[in-house]
Amino acid sequence: MSETTIALVTGANKGIGYEIAAGLGARGWKVGVGARDDARREAAVEKLRADGVDAFGVPLDVTDDASVAAAAQLLEEQGGLDVLVNNAGITGGMPQEPTAVAIETMREAVEVNVFGVVRVINAMLPLLRQSASPRIVNMSSSVGSLARQSSTDDALTVGPVAAAYSPSKTYLNAVTVQYARELQDTNILINLGCPGFVATDLNGFRGVRTPEEGARIAISLATLPDDGPTGGYFEEAGAIPW
Ligand SMILES: NC(=O)c1ccc[n+]([C@@H]2O[C@H](COP(=O)([O-])OP(=O)(O)OC[C@H]3O[C@@H](n4cnc5c(N)ncnc54)[C@H](OP(=O)(O)O)[C@@H]3O)[C@@H](O)[C@H]2O)c1
Repeated sequence: MSETTIALVTGANKGIGYEIAAGLGARGWKVGVGARDDARREAAVEKLRADGVDAFGVPLDVTDDASVAAAAQLLEEQGGLDVLVNNAGITGGMPQEPTAVAIETMREAVEVNVFGVVRVINAMLPLLRQSASPRIVNMSSSVGSLARQSSTDDALTVGPVAAAYSPSKTYLNAVTVQYARELQDTNILINLGCPGFVATDLNGFRGVRTPEEGARIAISLATLPDDGPTGGYFEEAGAIPW
């Protein structure tokens, strides 16, 4: 493994993922910019490098086995992997009332937000296992919290009624807990983060936080000390109820 900490951020060409890459790069880490579109990826890498980040492009479509396998190979050539941030995500498009949602919309959300994360983690695990302090951060959302979505307090039932996006994050939460259980006797810490309501393409820029603010929770979970938590679900203010 390399002396330098190496991170991979998926969906890092824009939005919160770009700012996570910038924030980790500002710590002197080498950062793989995972993105599926060549032009968008190269533009992001150039911008990060112009800001002094040791960035490199990683062609990556999280729904594609071959693409993910090639990304793992590229990381190995770059010196390995210490920190994986699974940030890539989609809503599937709104509206998504359960009485009218297209099954295909639900399938697409789960393909990217859940199966995509599993595919990337499992491909990267052999590299992460060689790291002294491996971390996995899965970008979830507080709309995946069943406790909040089923609350009678309107302040907690945030986001639109959404039968594809919100349950896909609940599913991601559940899978992450299972990873934490399986990996509990290793040095790998795996946690879920919610960035808050951030102005990005994902929500037509209606969010109230900046992508830089949204990136903070992922950066803090990516830089946890060795005795940090695992299997947790956090926003900046603290733990989120499941
Ligand atoms: N914005 C919010 O308020 C908010 C709130 C809670 C949670 N989140 C979560 O935060 C994460 C980042 O969201 P964001 O707001 O920054 O969204 P965004 O600006 O739409 O960025 C999403 C990123 O994911 C990438 N992506 C989508 N499908 C992909 C695939 N199949 N393979 C690889 N990359 C793919 C996109 O790439 P392209 O450019 O190629 O499409 C883009 O880089 C998501 O997981 C989201 O669910 C966001």
